[in-house]
Amino acid sequence: MKITPQFLDKYNKTGPRYTSYPPATSFSTKFTSSEFVPAVIKSNDEYPESISIYIHIPFCPQLCFFCGCNTSAFDSTVKVRRYIDCVLKEIDTVAQHIDKSRKVSQIHWGGGTPNSINYDFIEEIIDKIKSHFSFSEKCEVAIECSPAYLELEHIDRLAKIGFNRLSIGIQDFHLDVLNAINRKPSKHPIEQVIQRIRENNFDGVNLDLVYGLPLQTLESFKENIEKAIALSPDRIVTFSYAHVPWVNSLQMKMDENKMAGPEEKLNMLLLAYDMLTKNGYEAIGMDHFAKPTDDLAIAKHNKNLHRNFQGYCTRETTGQVYAFGTSSISQLWGTYAQNIKNLHQYMDAIEATGLATDRGYSLTKEETVIREVINEVMCNGYLDFDVIARRLKITAEEVKTITNYNPSKLQPFIEDGLVEIVDDKIHVSADGMFVVRNIAMLFDPNLGITESKFSRVV
Ligand SMILES: C[S@@+](CC[C@H](N)C(=O)[O-])C[C@H]1O[C@@H](n2cnc3c(N)ncnc32)[C@H](O)[C@@H]1O
Ligand code: SF4
Repeated sequence: MKITPQFLDKYNKTGPRYTSYPPATSFSTKFTSSEFVPAVIKSNDEYPESISIYIHIPFCPQLCFFCGCNTSAFDSTVKVRRYIDCVLKEIDTVAQHIDKSRKVSQIHWGGGTPNSINYDFIEEIIDKIKSHFSFSEKCEVAIECSPAYLELEHIDRLAKIGFNRLSIGIQDFHLDVLNAINRKPSKHPIEQVIQRIRENNFDGVNLDLVYGLPLQTLESFKENIEKAIALSPDRIVTFSYAHVPWVNSLQMKMDENKMAGPEEKLNMLLLAYDMLTKNGYEAIGMDHFAKPTDDLAIAKHNKNLHRNFQGYCTRETTGQVYAFGTSSISQLWGTYAQNIKNLHQYMDAIEATGLATDRGYSLTKEETVIREVINEVMCNGYLDFDVIARRLKITAEEVKTITNYNPSKLQPFIEDGLVEIVDDKIHVSADGMFVVRNIAMLFDPNLGITESKFSRVV
């Protein structure tokens, strides 16, 4: 592998991370609930036919200093009850506009800490979804859990409610690091937690780790990866610590002098990549790793990997996303719509009207083509213009014109062995995936590019 700070410096330019196209920063507050309802109705005739549902639970019993998610302290069950009633009402309001012959293929619970609320609330919401929709045979039902609040019996209950994938937020196994980020360790030994998940026949378990936290060193991070490998989950995610104090001012409480700089963070990423790929995990993008038997690894092999705001997913399970709860983003074929972030304003809006759209974006036909190409490059490291053209029912020439494609733009990447063009199909190498954002940018005609530091990658 030739990934060094100098190598990344050569290629890395500032630009979008392409978690969505166009990015969430282009969403407009002129897009309100009056635009969202017709967009939902239109989505019934758009692609994909299947339905993904996202439920956001913005509560945590204790707030971690490093957190970049939209959450707040869990101060009373009365407030949680009111919030759950709002989510139930929002589901009723949106569901009446969705064609009931469409099936739910994916449900994802994120937050916040969804496993910290009363499990009867969780069951109520799943029952509400079941009352409106039927599920596809392989429907994925996943929940993000903090192990600090996870009793072993909770795992049995989640299985009974219908969950088949659990994501466990480890972040770091070391107590001093957890103390420095104001986080409690797992309530039960993590081996027992994983064992109980296996006994309940879940289809998969993910572990989340973060690098770049206070007190972490290359050596301590290596221990985290070793322990994660020994636990043998289906997926391991190594997130780079994202410094976003405008989302969470608590991040300012962490001592920056005790945090790894960009070069050390890069070494942590490379170490994780090396250890995990040598121990039977396949790299999905740069920071997700999956066992070869896992659906994501299979999708990557079949060049069929996809992405939404909840992370990587397969095209079989991912539908258009209808999102519920504060700050959640619906991702329909032609529209993005984000709910109000503030908890009280969200609840007031839902109680008054059943909807709480705060901002959104309607894509042009050209943007849907550019998005498809960028997703394909970012997820699969592969681009076949004919495949995209067939999917979008246009010609390959139209795809090339809309994305301003010119093979000469790829020349520097080809000379460095990061990209190959064979029979008009573009292949990104394993090293090339470290700068895949920069390759994707070449297919984005709406972009101004400037130079920056290699730290962009981590
Ligand atoms: C909603 S949390 C997961 C569930 C639960 N709240 C927990 O903490 O275990 C989603 C994940 O986002 C990641 N995350 C949160 N803040 C982050 C940050 N500032 N930088 C990078 N990753 C972050 C963590 O790995 C976390 O597990
Ligand atoms: S990392 Fe998880 S538990 Fe910690 S504050 Fe964020 S959402 Fe809550």
